[in-house]
Amino acid sequence: MLKATLLKAAGSPALKRQMTANPVARRVAGRFIAGTTIDDADRVIRELNAKGAPVALDYLGENTESEAQARDSTAAYLAALDRIQEQGLDANISVKLTAMGLDIRPELALEEASRVAARGKEVGAMVGVDMEAHAYVERTLDTVVQLAKSYDQVGVCLQAYLYRTRDDLARLNELGVPVRLVKGAYQESPEVAYPEKARVDAAYARLLDTLIQDNPYPMVGTHDPALVRLTKTLVARYERDRGTFEFQMLYGVRRDLQEQVLAEGYRLRVYVPYGDQWYPYFMRRLAERPANLYFFLSNLLKR
Ligand code: FDA
Repeated sequence: MLKATLLKAAGSPALKRQMTANPVARRVAGRFIAGTTIDDADRVIRELNAKGAPVALDYLGENTESEAQARDSTAAYLAALDRIQEQGLDANISVKLTAMGLDIRPELALEEASRVAARGKEVGAMVGVDMEAHAYVERTLDTVVQLAKSYDQVGVCLQAYLYRTRDDLARLNELGVPVRLVKGAYQESPEVAYPEKARVDAAYARLLDTLIQDNPYPMVGTHDPALVRLTKTLVARYERDRGTFEFQMLYGVRRDLQEQVLAEGYRLRVYVPYGDQWYPYFMRRLAERPANLYFFLSNLLKR
């Protein structure tokens, strides 16, 4: 119930205006977000690289409403790739297709994403496509399949809570597209997604088996210690080399687990968002864990 309310609030323009202007909200959001500029992101990438963790850099933004905004998002992703190359940072990028115009026209998003994928190929950095709400899944996968025909360094995120993911994963495995598996962060109807957490966790475990067995480069996106353990069992069972898969976790979430996985010699990539459009991302992080909301509210009251 609380989760559903927070996820609904993530789409509210009025709340967005209030929260982004609120210094306490900005400070608390700073736990999950590197900052607003590419220089902020650069600093965080260097800190993480120094600890042995590569980064997936996410320029925040989603649901752009004009072609000009979509082109601005592309420009920001291209600038991020330039920075990665110029500074020799150990990072790739993660993009959202609605930031590049998927709501306006799918062809626009494909055009813009192709420009980013072409630059990613030059830089030698994977361009990972995030997965958004269920209404976008079909269009996102169509775009990714088109991109993958020309660029082999394009990957995509799949969400274990969706019933359709079993078939989507089989198809992407067949096409040889790298997949990041996550549980799923949006509010979805029981017609398309498992409503109970236990069933989402069980679906993740089943999908993980196929991912580790058949995907060219599995990206295991979770902070769930049981699923991290299961991954280790599966990579041993399927004799996967440590260089052929990676764990991925979010900046500011379960740093203890991140350190443990790194100390054990596994590859762990940290997903680092930056930019001033942090409101919906922050709300999804609050929704994932009620303790985050209490921390935020207690900080507001302490003011
Ligand atoms: P679960 O929710 O069971 O959490 C396991 C443990 O992790 C918790 O017990 C808690 O300790 C900790 N934890 C989890 N979330 C936390 C938080 N916000 N704050 C503090 N602690 C927290 N989703 C999506 O729909 N599309 C996408 O493209 C992506 N991309 C993505 C990339 C990467 C690298 C990750 C790790 C995750 C995503 N997600 C995502 C988000 C994902 O769908 C999911 O909502 C979160 O990862 C939380 O689920 P867990 O697998 O961590 O399990």
